[in-house]
This record gives sequence, C-alpha cells and structure tokens, in this order.
Amino acid sequence: MSKVLYIKANPNPEGSRTVEISDKFIEEYKKLNPNDEVITLDLYNEDIDFLNMEDLNTLFSEKDNENTENKVLRYAYQFKSADKFVFSAPMWNLSFPAILKAYMDYVTVSGITFKYTSEGPVGLCTGKKAVYVATRGSVFSSGPAESFEMGERYMKALLGFLGVYNVETIIAEGLDSSKVDVAKAMEDAIVSGKKLAENF
Ligand SMILES: Cc1cc2nc3c(=O)[nH]c(=O)nc-3n(C[C@H](O)[C@H](O)[C@H](O)COP(=O)(O)O)c2cc1C
Repeated sequence: MSKVLYIKANPNPEGSRTVEISDKFIEEYKKLNPNDEVITLDLYNEDIDFLNMEDLNTLFSEKDNENTENKVLRYAYQFKSADKFVFSAPMWNLSFPAILKAYMDYVTVSGITFKYTSEGPVGLCTGKKAVYVATRGSVFSSGPAESFEMGERYMKALLGFLGVYNVETIIAEGLDSSKVDVAKAMEDAIVSGKKLAENF
C-alpha cells in the first residue's frame, strides 16, 4: 500500500483548470489503487508561512523523531513518510504560486529529507516518485518562451536534490491564447494524465 500526497497550490481549487486535470488523475489513480492512502494538502488551507528566524533555528536544530508534530518540521516528516507526490499548480509569473515555494521550504530540511555529507548534500527521499500538473496561459514547452519556464524546471531540480528523480509532468498550456483550442488542450492533458495514472 502506497501513501500519496496530493499537493494543491491554487487559491480557488473549485474554479481551477489545473485542479480539474489533477483531480481526474487522482480519481483514476484511486480507481486503480483502491487500497492506497491519498492525503490532500490544499496549501491555502494549511499552516504555511514564510520562514522567519525562529523557524530557521528549528530547521537547523538537532532532529529526533520526537518532534514530528512540530509546526515547522511536520511537513518534512510527512513528505518523507510518503511514497508518491502529485503537485497541482498553475503557472504564475513564470513559475508557480509562492505558497508552493513556501511549502517546499518547509519540506527541504537537512536531517529529514536530505543530509549533508563530506561529499556534499544527499537526498533522503530516494525511491519515491512525483507528478507535476500545471496549466499555463501561454506556451512554454517549445518556441521563444521555452527558456523562461521555471516552475516545472524548479520542481524537478529541487525534487532531484531530495532524491526524487522520477518526476513526470501533465501540462496544458496556451490556455489564455486565442490561437489554442482550449477544450482540446484540456482534454489531451486529462487523457495523458489517466494514462500516466496506470503506471504511477
Ligand atoms: C497571478 C497570475 C500570474 C500568471 N502568470 C502567468 C505566466 O507567467 N505565464 C503564463 O503563461 N500564464 C500565466 N498566468 C495564467 C495562468 O497560468 C493560466 O490562466 C492557468 O491556466 C491558470 O490556472 P488555474 O485555472 O488552475 O488557476 C498567470 C495567472 C495569474 C492569476
């Protein structure tokens, strides 16, 4: 039985095209894996803030398994205990909503999700996998804006730092462009998500 964290970074999940796609992915996944545990983290309803000095002291303190409920450390412990991650985030200003970065700042903790060694930092989340679901107003997967995309790229880099190397993506883009058939782009993403769910 796997533990799946479904992480939503949208202030309006009910009206979100990104969440529409990721919900369909989760629905399909649950159908195929009825015994798995899926925990939803709607980040706007979580206790997430920007790290302050006191939080940094906690992050760099000696870790023991006694403090798994600590306000600042509990997201990292929860992340470490999961097997799979589904991120759902629209593109905002070339990456994603800041709350997702704030969440990843809680998750990226030495002594829990990665550690320092004499050879440099080593991820402690190996063997886990993730899918990153995003929608974008414009097109970034190819063409002149390609190098400006920093959301998918950032998440793949940081997850790799934590040891999560298996990261798939489900993207619908150009959704705010009159040149794109939006209904088709959404449908294509939902279909590719369902296919991905079969092997996730
Ligand atoms: C604050 C904000 C910033 C955005 N920045 C970008 C951007 O940099 N590039 C882009 O292509 N679309 C951008 N968009 C458009 C959204 O990515 C697009 O409409 C997306 O489908 C919204 O997803 P949602 O329906 O899940 O909220 C932005 C939208 C908002 C609200």
